[in-house]
Amino acid sequence: TDFETILLERKGRVALITLNRPKALNALNSQVLADLRAALQELESDDGVGAVVLTGSERAFAAGADIKEMADKSYMDMFLADFFAGYEQVAAFRKPLIAAVAGYALGGGCELAMMCDILIAADNATFGQPEIKLGVIPGMGGSQRLTRAIGKAKAMDLILTGRNMGAEEAERAGLVARIVPAAELIATALEVAETIAGYSLPAVMIAKEAVERSYELTLSEGLRFERRVFHSLFATEDQKEGMAAFVGKRAPEFKHR
Ligand code: HXC
Repeated sequence: TDFETILLERKGRVALITLNRPKALNALNSQVLADLRAALQELESDDGVGAVVLTGSERAFAAGADIKEMADKSYMDMFLADFFAGYEQVAAFRKPLIAAVAGYALGGGCELAMMCDILIAADNATFGQPEIKLGVIPGMGGSQRLTRAIGKAKAMDLILTGRNMGAEEAERAGLVARIVPAAELIATALEVAETIAGYSLPAVMIAKEAVERSYELTLSEGLRFERRVFHSLFATEDQKEGMAAFVGKRAPEFKHR
């Protein structure tokens, strides 16, 4: 399928989505959201896809929601459209989504990266929630996901002052899983995605879901959820194959079922 504002490529069991509005530093307008949702829907229903990498350009992952598109909107425009609610579909994507972030990840760009499961940053990556400078606040999860990711002290610092944070600080704070040289960003992210896509797809999807539940549940309910879904994997062919391969001292050949 062709999209207006993103590129979608398949590389074996991995898909690569590249935000592609270079002149606007990948500002996230309604078309980007529509394209992203359509691409993710396609990839979610394709059993041949085991993991997805989401990236931007070397200069910008995304410099935020599209300010020009929002500038003249009224309260009622925003409310009736439930503006940004469509991003919940991105956060609800059931397969691993790896953000490969170079350059600016500001405002909605930072929030989009935080909807992903693993955030890999180029050494030139810059994160921030500068909405306060525009007279508003984060509207795509920044006040919630950033606070959960890096804690209140730094989240308040970033959201109230609007200052940016570099890749090193973001990794130290726990927002970023790995930092790599900018030139190796896509290759590294694809490698991580390929590793994941080589495992049992149901195990991977359930692992993602179990980690996500930790944000929503008490420890005892989370542990119970984990145990129940752990048990469920014993209904898969891949569990039999994975364990038989270990016992037989050979490499597993997952059927992803
Ligand atoms: C629309 C944007 C944009 C954005 C950049 N552009 N960011 N357009 N929305 N968020 C456009 C610029 O207008 C310009 O187009 C082109 O991209 C290049 O940007 P420059 O500013 O010329 O580049 P540079 O000087 O290198 O500065 C880069 C930058 C700066 C520091 C990233 O662009 C910037 O501060 N952008 C806004 C960052 C921001 O505030 N993001 C949060 C948005 S609000 P033209 O055609 O003019 O040359 C948000 C959440 C909303 O995301 C939730 C609450 C409503």
